Amino acid sequence: MEKKQSRESWSSNFGFMMAAIGSAVGLGNLWGFPYKMGANGGFAFLVLYLLLVVFAGYILVMTELSLGRATQRSIIPAYRVASDGKVTFIGILSALAPFFILGFYCYLGGYAVKYTIANLGDIFNAGFGVNGLDGTSFFVALYENQWMSAAYTAVFMLATIIIVSRGVGEGIEKFNKVAMPGLFIVLLIVVVRSCTLPGAGAGVAFMLKPDLTVFQGGGWVHVLASAGGQMFFSVSLGMGILVTYGSYMQKTDDIAKSGMMIPLADTVIALLAGLAIMPAVFAFGMEPAAGPGLLFMTLQNVFNSMGGAGAFFGFLFYLLVSIAALTSSMSVLEAIISSFIDSGIESGKGNQRKKIAWIAGAMTFVMGMIVAFDGLGTYLPPMFGRFCWLDGFDLLAEGVLMPVAAFCTVIYFGWFKKGFLQAEIKSSSAFATEKFYTVCLRYVAPVFCFFILLGQLDSFFGFGWF
Ligand code: PHE
Repeated sequence: MEKKQSRESWSSNFGFMMAAIGSAVGLGNLWGFPYKMGANGGFAFLVLYLLLVVFAGYILVMTELSLGRATQRSIIPAYRVASDGKVTFIGILSALAPFFILGFYCYLGGYAVKYTIANLGDIFNAGFGVNGLDGTSFFVALYENQWMSAAYTAVFMLATIIIVSRGVGEGIEKFNKVAMPGLFIVLLIVVVRSCTLPGAGAGVAFMLKPDLTVFQGGGWVHVLASAGGQMFFSVSLGMGILVTYGSYMQKTDDIAKSGMMIPLADTVIALLAGLAIMPAVFAFGMEPAAGPGLLFMTLQNVFNSMGGAGAFFGFLFYLLVSIAALTSSMSVLEAIISSFIDSGIESGKGNQRKKIAWIAGAMTFVMGMIVAFDGLGTYLPPMFGRFCWLDGFDLLAEGVLMPVAAFCTVIYFGWFKKGFLQAEIKSSSAFATEKFYTVCLRYVAPVFCFFILLGQLDSFFGFGWF
């Protein structure tokens, strides 16, 4: 069949793992996890997070990977083929989320590139360096400069499109096979520097010290919602990325093992990111924060305070952030284009990857430009009357589409298409955890997804439910 000949696949299991971990490891690990862990009970948060990884993350990763591999299709056709057209809508919901994610992710990735270049400039005392400007002023000047923001968003978007257009094995896999081990080494260097600064202990304590008071009263609900939302975004669940990546797996790859390794590696890197960031923040007497503020203001101040070596470590760190963001953004673009590539192949037009990558890239480019020209709510009228466009896109994807799609997925495969995914997993793994998987798929994962949806809506709209 022509379809088989022209559909791409990973060239090795290692390559697939690097790509999947590359998708998971991104801005979420760097600015979400360390702060949330510190603010929500330290070691106690970690224990809860690990339980979530086992009872829900593992289950959802396996579900998505096996759906992709069983159908050998990407998001929309995968749901169509697996359900004889009954739940194609879940595929459509999942496929919409990546458009919104990519719109703001490329903007933030572009900023990481800008900071990498600026710190490089500082090493050589060049005019384009940070030049001692404090982190906040540097950041404000950047987002208020719409054309500069747009230019860096475009650069990041272009890099994403170029790699993805080269193909699954030749583009995404090749890049991740080098980038992910590289990222790991750079991260270790930064961890060592950060943890050996005088006063670093306070940062380690902030992250790790168990604090059970956050669980008191209704507090545990809040902590659970925060840990759940974090895990969902960090492991890249609910938007068909792992369905797509699973569809390129070999029929002999062990899904049960990969399902465990991906969220676990993601968690280890998130912890290391915390040990890279928090000790340095505390060593220089600064306040930890979450989100863009931590990455683009606080940390730049940390590098400014480090003296001569600051620019060097700043450069290394922002390079790491740029790479982590790039390996995530390419998975998002791949999830978008892969359904279109499949339908081209099915209708006999062959593999039109290049053309589709550039067209989809151009469409998400428009979204990125809206975010860049909005300047974090400085210039455009607010979305839905209350959000800056970055937050609005994030709300649509992370707050609504992803949890709804994941909820419908586990309900369908847990209750209506019983045993379908299990058969696929068993075809290439010993699958000792089958019973556990089935029970969690039917009872635990739906509750979890529903809860995440509530938690996300609550945190975006400030309802104060939790
Ligand atoms: N998992 C990535 C991160 O932690 C972000 C991401 C979310 C990537 C959803 C793809 C899909 O930053």
